[in-house]
Amino acid sequence: MKNIKAIIFDAYGTLFDVNSAAEKCKDKIGDKWEGFANFWRTTQLEYTWLRSLMNRHKDFWQVTEDSLDKSMKAFNIDTSMKNELLNLYKVLSPFNEVPETLKILKKKNFKLAILSNGTPALLKELVKSNNLNNVFDDLFSIEQVGIYKPDSKVYDLPVKKYKIEKNEVAFLSANTWDVSGGGNYGFNSIWVNRSNGIFDNLDYKPKNEIKNLNELTKLI
Ligand code: LAC
Repeated sequence: MKNIKAIIFDAYGTLFDVNSAAEKCKDKIGDKWEGFANFWRTTQLEYTWLRSLMNRHKDFWQVTEDSLDKSMKAFNIDTSMKNELLNLYKVLSPFNEVPETLKILKKKNFKLAILSNGTPALLKELVKSNNLNNVFDDLFSIEQVGIYKPDSKVYDLPVKKYKIEKNEVAFLSANTWDVSGGGNYGFNSIWVNRSNGIFDNLDYKPKNEIKNLNELTKLI
């Protein structure tokens, strides 16, 4: 990959493990914790897409809470756990290789940024709680444009701020639909295929696929 000026990361599922909140409560939730975590995530994303289509925006924190309420009902989880799960969602753990790889990339001459559905406050706290404050040039939030990914106004944010071409961005996401969104927009999208998944049929196939961020340093 040549002429890359900015490396832009999706946050949830790519840098930070969205299942880690429920996993930290697995003693209380029991064996169903993983099914519950996946349902919560899927519902959360569906709500972002549906709200964008209905033109009824609510921020990601409200959507996370709304989707948690439905998921707790669906999995029969006691409502007394709600605050604990929400508080853990604010400080999700990064995937193992993330801090080290970001610090290596930081020494090179790229803009490094997050581009996420998360609110500015959530992204700031997530980065701070994982000691990654000094790594990123920007934490781009969809709140700057008031519509969720994969609307092209979201992917415009770093291109406009850095005054660069779309194909000078390497965009990394573990979410296949987000890889397609960024790729259709014109980014060099890289699929972080952490769990041996199947790609989408949405008019874009990533030229590059990696298992985790360690492999990124070989690509760029
Ligand atoms: C984000 C979601 C897509 O961080 O994971 O934008």
